[in-house]
Amino acid sequence: MVSVARSSANIALVKYWGKRDAKLNLPLTGSISLTLKELETQTAVEFDPALEDDELELNGKPADKAATEKVTKFLDLIRTRALIQTRARVLSTNTFPTASGLASSSSAFSALALAASTAAGLLLPPPTLSELARRGSGSAARSIFGGFVEMLPGVLSDGTDAVAVPIAPQDHWDVRIVVGVTTLASKATSSTDGMESTTRTSPYMPVWVQTQDRDLNVMRRALLDRDIQRVGELMEHNALKMHAAALAAQPGVLYWNGRTVDLMHAVYGMRKEGVPAYFTIDAGPHVKVFCLARDAEHVGRTLASVPGVQRVITCAPGAGAELIEQRDSLFAARMTV
Ligand code: DP6
Repeated sequence: MVSVARSSANIALVKYWGKRDAKLNLPLTGSISLTLKELETQTAVEFDPALEDDELELNGKPADKAATEKVTKFLDLIRTRALIQTRARVLSTNTFPTASGLASSSSAFSALALAASTAAGLLLPPPTLSELARRGSGSAARSIFGGFVEMLPGVLSDGTDAVAVPIAPQDHWDVRIVVGVTTLASKATSSTDGMESTTRTSPYMPVWVQTQDRDLNVMRRALLDRDIQRVGELMEHNALKMHAAALAAQPGVLYWNGRTVDLMHAVYGMRKEGVPAYFTIDAGPHVKVFCLARDAEHVGRTLASVPGVQRVITCAPGAGAELIEQRDSLFAARMTV
């Protein structure tokens, strides 16, 4: 059975940064995100008895050993649940630059969780899919759902309560995230490594953890109230606090480049002119600007005018993970995206 799923990446408005259990990938705190329509992964999975090892193709090219091993570890979780040993062929395509801080692991593991579990004959409900996606990447647990989503850190040691839950649907608020892509190169430090080193060595880590619940409570309320100023100011504060903790690790974890800082100033400039636009930055150098749909064009033009900015991508709220195709045949036809 071949299953094809699509899933959109999400951007955290209140960040996940730090784990309470690295093996089960359990977060230290909750987080809140927005799923983004335009940043999409499509993944096809076929379990094939003729295969000796799992095969992974990313954006039309065979993946490297490390990525394939990560996928094999993830597929093992599904094989254990489905009581099978069959190896799988996985084809995955992104509509945006992979491993560049555009949170591609969130859509990747969310799409893989849905496609692979379905191909293995499992029919998992969204909370179970979220728990499964989390094992691949913490942020992927949120991409199972559309719109505004909260990841619960859970308290159980087996992680069954560390799942995402929807806060408000995709059509709750007509907002945009405008991404200023500052480089096409891959990032230097993965989020997994960056948060491990921050947790172990940053003196600011305890403060980060202690202040998360307050940020989550205020953000949840502000999102439900569609209060752009409260959402935006808190989102910016939370991102800067995460980066301050990472910068204070030993050695410091710095994700920004010069254009990142230029874009932050451009956002401050727009606010001075009265445009409610606010930035957030993940484990990479790109700047993601939250604004109302009516201001997105102006924001996009302003970001594009900053020297060195490679590309601007405007994203609307998106849907959760969905199955787009299921068929019995072997992979004669390649997936078309
Ligand atoms: C800065 O989900 O990529 O984007 O669980 O180790 O795979 P792993 O980490 P990942 O971390 C995302 C970090 C972030 C913030 C966020 O998305 O909440």
